[in-house]
Amino acid sequence: MINELIEYSKRPKLYEKSSAEFWDDEHISREMLKCHLNPSIEAASRSHHFIDKSVEWIQKEAPRTMYHTVLDLGCGPGLYAERLCHKGYSVTGIDLSKRSIAYAKERASRQGDVIQYIYKNYLDIDYQNVFDLILLVYCDFGVLSHQDRKILLDKVYASLAEKGKFIFDVFTPRHYEGKNENSHWYMNYGSGFWKPKTYMCLESHLIYENYIRLNQYIIIDEEEHIDVFRIWDHYYTIETIRTELENSGFRQVKIYGDISGSSFSEESETMCIVAEK
Ligand SMILES: C[S@@+](CC[C@H](N)C(=O)[O-])C[C@H]1O[C@@H](n2cnc3c(N)ncnc32)[C@H](O)[C@@H]1O
Repeated sequence: MINELIEYSKRPKLYEKSSAEFWDDEHISREMLKCHLNPSIEAASRSHHFIDKSVEWIQKEAPRTMYHTVLDLGCGPGLYAERLCHKGYSVTGIDLSKRSIAYAKERASRQGDVIQYIYKNYLDIDYQNVFDLILLVYCDFGVLSHQDRKILLDKVYASLAEKGKFIFDVFTPRHYEGKNENSHWYMNYGSGFWKPKTYMCLESHLIYENYIRLNQYIIIDEEEHIDVFRIWDHYYTIETIRTELENSGFRQVKIYGDISGSSFSEESETMCIVAEK
């Protein structure tokens, strides 16, 4: 075990992958769903109060009469999809958590909401000129590698109808200001976020060049099984996000401070982008 630990404790190469499933893990996805559905905590989703505000703003930015068909990438249990459906949009939600998609489908059928939920990796979408509006909410764009972000932006561009809008958010350098590299460990007795049994977590936050951070969690369980979870985050300035969008064909780009339409300033820890095809 110690040799495996020594390997995992070395600084990983840029975009080295986790050793196990994260979003679609049987146990983690159950914990994650609890977080999504807790109205006040900002963990897997933002607070439900913020989401209400956010959907109000999206309606103004992309009115239903002109932006009728919506694709919500990484829709989770459908917090945005359901609200948008109730506002009259025609919504498709895609997520690679079986548990979130099952929950969302069950809830939609119970309420009589017509929403298409699809269990799928959003990097595998293959639409041409279909959607008026595409969403990717809660800074999920930044977790992707350089290559996957380019793939996703190209696919989003292809999926949008002419003049369609892509609305998404990312973290800014301000979010990480003053947060240095650090590592710590803790024991979790009994079931916790990472495992349904006692485990030790070695947690590190590492800084890479060009606006990239890594949050790494090494989990050692009672049976001495080790998993490593690596959550990368690329954060952005206005210039760097514009460049990536332009490389995939987006020309019209508007910047806000968050996905409820607040204005962007040097203090903003997030940036919401509205990119038009
Ligand atoms: C931070 S959560 C945000 C959920 C939702 N957008 C919200 O704000 O309530 C990210 C979501 O993206 C999903 N996800 C992550 N990577 C994905 C991928 N490659 N394809 C599809 N879904 C993905 C996760 O399962 C999770 O539900």
